[in-house]
Amino acid sequence: MILVTGGTGLVGSYVLLQLARNKKQVRALIRNNASKEEVYNLFRLYEPKQYQELYDSLQWMVGDILNVLSLEESFVGISQVYHVAGKVSFEERDSKQLYKINIEGTKNLVNLSIEKKINKFCFISSIAVLDQQFDQPEITEEAQWNFKAPHSSYACSKYGAELEVWRGAEEGLPVIVVLPGIVLGSGNWERSSGLLYDMALRDKAFYPSGVTGYVDAEDVAEICVRLMDSSINNERYILVSENVSYESVFQFLRNYFDREPAKEISNFRLGKLAFLSRILPVKRKISKAVFYALTGKPQYSNKKIRETLSFIFIPCEESLKFHAGNYLQYKQIKDND
Ligand SMILES: NC(=O)c1ccc[n+]([C@@H]2O[C@H](COP(=O)([O-])OP(=O)(O)OC[C@H]3O[C@@H](n4cnc5c(N)ncnc54)[C@H](OP(=O)(O)O)[C@@H]3O)[C@@H](O)[C@H]2O)c1
Repeated sequence: MILVTGGTGLVGSYVLLQLARNKKQVRALIRNNASKEEVYNLFRLYEPKQYQELYDSLQWMVGDILNVLSLEESFVGISQVYHVAGKVSFEERDSKQLYKINIEGTKNLVNLSIEKKINKFCFISSIAVLDQQFDQPEITEEAQWNFKAPHSSYACSKYGAELEVWRGAEEGLPVIVVLPGIVLGSGNWERSSGLLYDMALRDKAFYPSGVTGYVDAEDVAEICVRLMDSSINNERYILVSENVSYESVFQFLRNYFDREPAKEISNFRLGKLAFLSRILPVKRKISKAVFYALTGKPQYSNKKIRETLSFIFIPCEESLKFHAGNYLQYKQIKDND
């Protein structure tokens, strides 16, 4: 049986769907009071004929990755773990929670997996841990963490979490680590990268000058399952379909939503705003690291995963169109409620 954490979230719900499609026996960890609605809706969206059967094949178990005792029972009879649960936020005020959930939570899962002699452990890291190397135009899986570069608390927490996973590998736990770019999916529209569509639909939308990597949630889930089913161990893979400017993504969505084009916020203006946010008593601070992330133009290479699995990614525009359409339907239903 396979244990999945974070199944109620954006990435995790796609992992549950992919595992259920592959007829795997799945136990999904769920926090007390968390809703399963997003998972149900996702199964219905992607598998209109057999969603009920697939959804009913999931076994749910209550547990919190920060409470080791609550996890003990969920490990009974488990051979593989997909650790997807995590916190995604670029707000510095969330830093304590980010460190706790992402690092301590991962450490708990890794320790239990070693203790229970789990066969294979999959961890969802992030391209946020990959720093541009001086002499390399492209960022690959070999990119080292640059201790001198500014990093968001999110990036630091994911780096700390990955260190826990690699420590687990040193102690004999076979691991797979994937590093997705911004994940484009349907559902969970009010958190994590699900917020992108809402940001693009606002009356006044601005985009920064930078570029980043994007990937469809369906591709992330399919790749994780294929790597976990393979004989490959202790490797990390960048999961990015394309490197695209914020401008292209925002203008594509604005056009799709039939809105006026978004306006660029210049680096100078963003820098000024970031500086002011740090000295004034405002809730939303823009750290130096976030400023660089919004204005940088990194090129993430997806060569390793393409060649390992002969994988063809869903093009970014196709993903954006599909999910933006689903988002509009969700908005309509929500606005009519
Ligand atoms: N979305 C992206 O663009 C992206 C890109 C790269 C990497 N990632 C990584 O992918 C992972 C999942 O991200 P996501 O976008 O799916 O986030 P999400 O939609 O916010 O989902 C987070 C999931 O983690 C669960 N969780 C949080 N704290 C927990 C705890 N203490 N115990 C048990 N479960 C807990 C949440 O449960 P509740 O439903 O109870 O809140 C939810 O299921 C994260 O590790 C993130 O760093 C995401």
